[in-house]
Amino acid sequence: MSARILDGKVISASIRERVRAEVEQLKPRGVVPGLAVVLVGENPASKVYVGQKEKACLSAGFASFLHKLPASTSQEELLELVGDLNRDPAVHGILVQLPLPPQIDPDTVISAIRPEKDVDGFHPINAGKLLAGLPCIEPCTPKGVMRLIEETGISLEGKEAAVVGRSNIVGKPVSLMLLAKNATVTVCHSRTKDIADHLRRADVLVAAVGRPRFVTAEMVKEGAVVIDVGINRLEGGLVGDVDYDAVAEKASWITPVPGGVGPMTIAMLLQNTVDVAAGRL
Ligand code: GUN
Repeated sequence: MSARILDGKVISASIRERVRAEVEQLKPRGVVPGLAVVLVGENPASKVYVGQKEKACLSAGFASFLHKLPASTSQEELLELVGDLNRDPAVHGILVQLPLPPQIDPDTVISAIRPEKDVDGFHPINAGKLLAGLPCIEPCTPKGVMRLIEETGISLEGKEAAVVGRSNIVGKPVSLMLLAKNATVTVCHSRTKDIADHLRRADVLVAAVGRPRFVTAEMVKEGAVVIDVGINRLEGGLVGDVDYDAVAEKASWITPVPGGVGPMTIAMLLQNTVDVAAGRL
């Protein structure tokens, strides 16, 4: 089998178009969705992501509030800024780009964001609601992964799903979302024994380990849907967590890197922000 490509650029463009239309609809109410993005320090990958988020914001017709703080920023100073953004009625969504410099505890900062403005879906209130199956702001990357799986038209009901990686940002939340769609979910991680045995059972495989080409063709079931969340910077360019060329021979659907999950994350961030501004979340 040769896999069909789940093109995140095309799918995210249609979502962004819909978000733009929603922004137009809010105008008569005097509402302009506002997203505040906070970048602390000089992490090169974070700078790229933040730049992409700002560009996406502006092209969707949002108000963009970008705060670039030096790497020497204290936790107190950052908490003060978060407090200001919490109180600012023009700001509907707040995103503090991770990772943060070592003197700042990310959990403390995330918990300081008003859950209603937590468009990253990282606040323990939103994470807890996701666990409990309650309506909440869902984290952007897992939400983008689910949207890509939906695009295949394949139902998750009763299917075997395997997730590689158990991060709070991707692995754990995407596992819960797959479970909510009635998949049977296996979460694999660095201590999992015989990982290939788990992955080979998967009808849907989500790779989010951060190890270049970790998932090889031998680990993939014929006809599986393979979603690659990995972004690994190698000398030859960006590669995912999946050995793309070989796995594409076996999978029924596969996401490219770049151009798969990445653009979906940004589209979902815009979607979350416009939903908050419209009072839907
Ligand atoms: N760092 C890597 N991914 C993300 C993300 O989705 N949100 C934030 N805030 N930081 C990140």
